[in-house]
Amino acid sequence: MTSSKSRILIIGATGFIGRHFTKASLAEGHPTFLLVRDSAASSSPEKAKLLESFRASGANILQGSLDDYASLVEALKKVDVVISAVGDFQRMSQINLIKAIKEVGNIKRFLPSEFAFEFDRFNDAVGPVKTVVDDSVKIRRAVEAEGIPYTYVICNCFAEYFVPCLGQVDLMVGITPPAPHPPTDKISIYGDGKSKAAFVKEEDIATYTIKTVDDPRTLNKFLYFMPPANTLSANELVGVWEKMIGKTLEKDYVSEEELLKKIADAQPELMKHYLSVCHYVFMKGDLTNFEIGPHGAEATQLYPNVTYSTVEDFLSRYV
Ligand SMILES: NC(=O)c1ccc[n+]([C@@H]2O[C@H](COP(=O)([O-])OP(=O)(O)OC[C@H]3O[C@@H](n4cnc5c(N)ncnc54)[C@H](OP(=O)(O)O)[C@@H]3O)[C@@H](O)[C@H]2O)c1
Repeated sequence: MTSSKSRILIIGATGFIGRHFTKASLAEGHPTFLLVRDSAASSSPEKAKLLESFRASGANILQGSLDDYASLVEALKKVDVVISAVGDFQRMSQINLIKAIKEVGNIKRFLPSEFAFEFDRFNDAVGPVKTVVDDSVKIRRAVEAEGIPYTYVICNCFAEYFVPCLGQVDLMVGITPPAPHPPTDKISIYGDGKSKAAFVKEEDIATYTIKTVDDPRTLNKFLYFMPPANTLSANELVGVWEKMIGKTLEKDYVSEEELLKKIADAQPELMKHYLSVCHYVFMKGDLTNFEIGPHGAEATQLYPNVTYSTVEDFLSRYV
């Protein structure tokens, strides 16, 4: 029996968000193909186990890499939709993928690795995040220049990274989510704590993203995540946690000048990166404060039957 659901190729299935896309694609009954590097399973027993579980759930695992053009062409011939979930600093390798998609000519939808913020509107970044912003914009323009059908997924803040640390993302350096516990005594707030961000649980990001691949309403558009219950300022996010634990945290409000100095002095590189994320999201911020307009749609409005986790639901595992 042939499926009416698109065949999806996921690149980055062993990664942090790619594994959620894989689970959601399989759960929705899409024929699911994973382009996996030879080194993935041998690099970590956890990844080997994960790939085995995907195989057991019906995923078709294809060996290949963004750096191996022939493997891309072969994989693309088998599918209708491509979701790339490569990491922050692998974005430019997608140029090879764009070239292969153009050559093969059968891809109905491409979701480049984004799953972050509206980099075209908000490009005032400093530090390592500036490279991520600039590379994302270059990839968008390359997709459009080749006339490849796309959806850009702007899911804002991953809950596992932003919520347990209550927005002080530099606390996550050295921690592979899930974080052990949110702060209970004191917290740094970057800026005045008033600019809003949206926080979305990774499973929910994946559920909405998979829904969109066959949805004509998001063809050549942005899919934004701004769930009303989870669009909060840093002050409000800390307030939710304070209410849950019945305690007021000591707050250190960090000025932009202080944060820029912290970024300049930070070691290791990951600390610099996470502090520059804090600058982008909370100091410059207000990344959800714009009219969506005709070029995009908001996920929770588009799919009102999906129930998403609130920040409170997410934090309840720590109480
Ligand atoms: N909004 C947020 O809060 C937030 C937070 C984190 C990430 N993100 C975004 O989410 C996206 C994915 O990030 P992530 O943290 O999930 O990534 P990640 O955990 O670093 O995983 C990257 C994946 O890409 C694969 N990969 C890397 N280079 C490849 C290549 N040349 N060919 C094929 N596969 C390759 C890796 O495979 P191996 O197993 O072989 O290494 C891995 O599966 C990025 O766009 C990032 O900006 C957003």
